[in-house]
Order: sequence, then C-alpha cells, then structure tokens
Amino acid sequence: MLNDSVKGAAQAASPSPSRSKPLIAMRNITKSFGSVQALRGASVEVHAGEVVALVGDNGAGKSTLVKVMAGVHGFDSGDYEIEGVAARINNPSDATAYGIQTVYQDLSLCNNLDAVQNLFLGRELAGSRWFGGRIKRAECEVRAREVMTRMRLGNLSLTRPVGAMSGGQRQNIAIARSILWTPKVVILDEPTAALSHSAAQQVATLIRTLADEGLGIVVVSHDIHHFVVHSTDRIEVMRLGANAASFRSKDVTGEQVVNAMVGGNENVNLAG
Ligand SMILES: Nc1ncnc2c1ncn2[C@@H]1O[C@H](COP(=O)(O)OP(=O)(O)OP(=O)(O)O)[C@@H](O)[C@H]1O
Ligand SMILES: [Mg+2]
Repeated sequence: MLNDSVKGAAQAASPSPSRSKPLIAMRNITKSFGSVQALRGASVEVHAGEVVALVGDNGAGKSTLVKVMAGVHGFDSGDYEIEGVAARINNPSDATAYGIQTVYQDLSLCNNLDAVQNLFLGRELAGSRWFGGRIKRAECEVRAREVMTRMRLGNLSLTRPVGAMSGGQRQNIAIARSILWTPKVVILDEPTAALSHSAAQQVATLIRTLADEGLGIVVVSHDIHHFVVHSTDRIEVMRLGANAASFRSKDVTGEQVVNAMVGGNENVNLAG
C-alpha cells in the first residue's frame, strides 16, 4: 500500500485527475477456505496508468487476492473500493461490469481458432455492443485489427490458428482479448511464465502500452529479476496472506524483493 507521502509524490508526478482516487483499493482483506486462512489482512491499490506487481512465495495468497478482485471469490472482511466507492462484486460478471478484466495463466484460448475468432469468442453470449448483436467476420476483423494496431501488435497474424503461435504471441492475443471489453483494470496471472526472454520483453512492452493508455494493471508474477523489477511501477510482497513489503520498482533490486518474499526483512516499506 502506498503511504501518504508516496501518494502525494505520485500525485505530484502526474497531473492526471484520475490519479486522485485509486481505480482499485483493497484494504485488510481476509478470506478463509474452511480452516485455511488464505488472506489475513491483505491490501493493494491500483491507480490509472500504473503497473502493480503482486509477488510472494507459493501459497502467499496472490491468486486469492486477485480472485477476490475479479469476483471469483467473496471475502470475509475488509474494504474493497473502486474509484472511491464500495464495490458490489458478487461474481466475475460484476467485476467485468466495473471494467475489471482478468487474463488467467491458461489464457483460455481455443487453439484451433484464429486470433479474430478468439478475440470475439463468447461475445455472442454476452450480447454484442456492435452490429446489433450479430457478429460478422469482416467486421470482427476490422475491429480486431484496430485493437491490435492500437496495442502495437499489428504484425500478428489474425488468420493463423493460435495453437500454431508462440507462447508470447498467444499471451498477447489473450491480453488483446481482454482489451476488447474496454476495461479500466487488467489483472494478469503470470504473463511471462514459460516465455523466452525476448517474448517476455514483448509482453512487458504491451503491458506498458496499456498502462500508458491509462489502464491500471495488476500482475501476479514469480519472474522477479527480469520482469517485476524492470517492467512494473510498484511491488507488493505478500507473505502468509498479508503484505510483507512494498517497493517502488525503480528503487529495488530483485534480491531485496526475494528477501522480503522469504522473510529476510520484516515489513519493509521502501515505497517512499
Ligand atoms: N479454493 C481453495 N480452497 C481451499 N484452499 C485454497 C483455495 N484457494 C487457495 N487456497 C489456499 O489458500 C492459500 C493461498 O493460496 P493462493 O493460491 O492464493 O496462493 P498464491 O500466492 O497464488 O500461490 P502460488 O504462487 O503457488 O500460485 C494456500 O494455502 C492455498 O492452499
Ligand atoms: Mg497463484
């Protein structure tokens, strides 16, 4: 969580009025699954235009926290606000309605379909906002090309089955798919896992492009040394279901982050 002086600095650094209230503010969230207390007072804020990393050891509660954010799980206590107002999120559709999109690690792409088909998959069920509910291939292609160009992915094939694409290309298509819903916040679960260094770089560039457009990005990642410290703005370290440390990414080394993850230093806050 940002402390007040850091918040002030962040606001001073950006004149954008959208920074005055976080897109998402979760405070002291608790969540148990039976006898397992997955979250013991976890907090995270996401402002427009920033990339926030959630890191921590296996079982630290990262996925649970983003699933609460995305409406997959409810929570037991704590506050969840969206743009300063208490969020009413009981399921993933509620989160979507608030402009929160999640790209899960499995990407949920259909390998035998091409990029255009994947981008529009399921849109018929949700009732298209375009073309009076009937989705036509040519119009989808135009819209897909628009989004891909905006995301600087114009060189990706729209007509090749995504199963024939590289991991990085598939990740980018999954992100593009979330963007079609014009979200305010995109949550990414391990977007660079199993990617080559250059593919991970491309995904990191795409994430920055989205943040520069004013989206808030939450990234769960174990890729501390390459992705997290170089390609995010802030880092929340979780341990045992709570926040163990907060860092500004530009001020920290991968080693410091890893130390905080495993308990090398207690309640570090170098975010200021
Ligand atoms: N649906 C569930 N039912 C029961 N326990 C759960 C459930 N989801 C998570 N947990 C438990 O909550 C704790 C936090 O899990 P979580 O998946 O949030 O960790 P994580 O930080 O995402 O770990 P990883 O890095 O391994 O993905 C763990 O002890 C886990 O076993
Ligand atoms: Mg997880």
